[in-house]
Amino acid sequence: MKYIIANWKANKDLDQAKTWANDFLQLLREDPYTRHGFEHDVVTLIICPSFPFIYPLRQLFQGHCNIEIGSQNVSQFGDGTYTGEVTAHNLSSLVRYSIIGHSERSQFFHETDADIGQRLQNARQFGIIPIYCVPKIPGQLPAEPTLLCYEPPNAISAGDGRGNNISPAYVHELRTRIKLPDTIAFIYGGSVNKNNVKEYLRYQNIDGVLLGGASLDPAHLFAIINAAIATAG
Ligand code: PGA
Repeated sequence: MKYIIANWKANKDLDQAKTWANDFLQLLREDPYTRHGFEHDVVTLIICPSFPFIYPLRQLFQGHCNIEIGSQNVSQFGDGTYTGEVTAHNLSSLVRYSIIGHSERSQFFHETDADIGQRLQNARQFGIIPIYCVPKIPGQLPAEPTLLCYEPPNAISAGDGRGNNISPAYVHELRTRIKLPDTIAFIYGGSVNKNNVKEYLRYQNIDGVLLGGASLDPAHLFAIINAAIATAG
């Protein structure tokens, strides 16, 4: 199983989010190869939009096997007097996954390792599987089901999916060196697009990719999903 994580970041309004979903679903209706890939557990897509679009996307993708909706964060707080926060409890019946610890959160919002630890714990408490983003592999790895996403900040694109991606051979070698429990899937993020995705996913030990810029266009994302299915043979 390969994971494709679409991190929309702070993009789109409601109409654009719905248009994206309808365009994607149209491509899916027209392509039995891709449908087969989803239906036979070859690939899982996790779409992570801004909070307001989680529910409408969830409705639009309902019943589509291996297409999940995720959030881009969960609060470090529990329910309570925290105006503007979105807690793991708030999200618990809406998402199965959440990105946690993305480097843009520490860069622009000063999230600390302690905050991130609390967010991971809160997510798990409410049955949300973390997509735990790290700039380098931490000494202490979680034992619980987690998608561990290696995404060095200087590899992340300015929003178009074309930046200084880390070489696929290096990512493969790194993954070979670290010992991961079976409960952890190893994901790479940083300037992955339809031209380079196969170079990562052809390695058995790279379980998926996290996309920013390349996920904003449904046709581009669709091409990436088909490339992922093709690497599975
Ligand atoms: P990018 O973003 O694909 O636009 O480089 C990836 C990320 O945020 O990890």
